[in-house]
Amino acid sequence: MDSPFEVLGVDPGADDAEIERAYRERVKDAHPDHGGSQREFQRVRRAYEAVVSDDVVAAESDSDTTADDRTRAAERARARNRGDRAGDGTDNGTGGPSVDGSRVEFLNYEVLDDHGWTLDDDDLFEKAAAADLDDEDYGRLLVQQGENLLEAAENRGYVWPYACRGGACSNCAVALVEGEMPTPAGNILTDEWLERGVRLSCISSPVSDQAKIVYNVKHLPGLDELRLRPSRFDRAHLQD
Ligand code: FES
Repeated sequence: MDSPFEVLGVDPGADDAEIERAYRERVKDAHPDHGGSQREFQRVRRAYEAVVSDDVVAAESDSDTTADDRTRAAERARARNRGDRAGDGTDNGTGGPSVDGSRVEFLNYEVLDDHGWTLDDDDLFEKAAAADLDDEDYGRLLVQQGENLLEAAENRGYVWPYACRGGACSNCAVALVEGEMPTPAGNILTDEWLERGVRLSCISSPVSDQAKIVYNVKHLPGLDELRLRPSRFDRAHLQD
């Protein structure tokens, strides 16, 4: 069974920057939208979480690791990530002391149908908070200065869709339910979509202290027509 370091392709003595770089590369290849699979992505993610939380044993074996082990490792990794980035070691993601950044409550668009919810529900996030959703589907994260929303999600270990990472494809689209998150001009979204609250997470950062967003809205009726296949950008990256 590969060790977490082997899964990431780094030496056990690698420093934080090397581990972060290796994770970024591996996670791109393993992403289900980019030729990988959910299983492979989770394997890479578990390896990363184990390495950064110093919980290497928990990720030594996919079969021996329990869901609770993985959840605890993920929480430790995220807490460490938040603390490192805030520079003060405090929990800044769920209502703690003020820091430079925006606290974002997020919800996965894919779970709305399962629960009979819609984007227009006034109490959408209250219902989500009470629904015992998976960690990936509902939660909070801190977007720090210098991060766009997609980077912030990835830096906390979440798998959010993307393709071009440059505002040209709409695969990373999110619906802004509360807060402010301007999207730079010259992107693929029409004024109509912007007025409806759709934003591109790869080029947008919240500017309000708090925000609520629904991610993964790329299949929203009508928005899907703007979407370009992720494989198109994989080919472009290979030719770089
Ligand atoms: S990933 Fe293509 S617009 Fe964001």
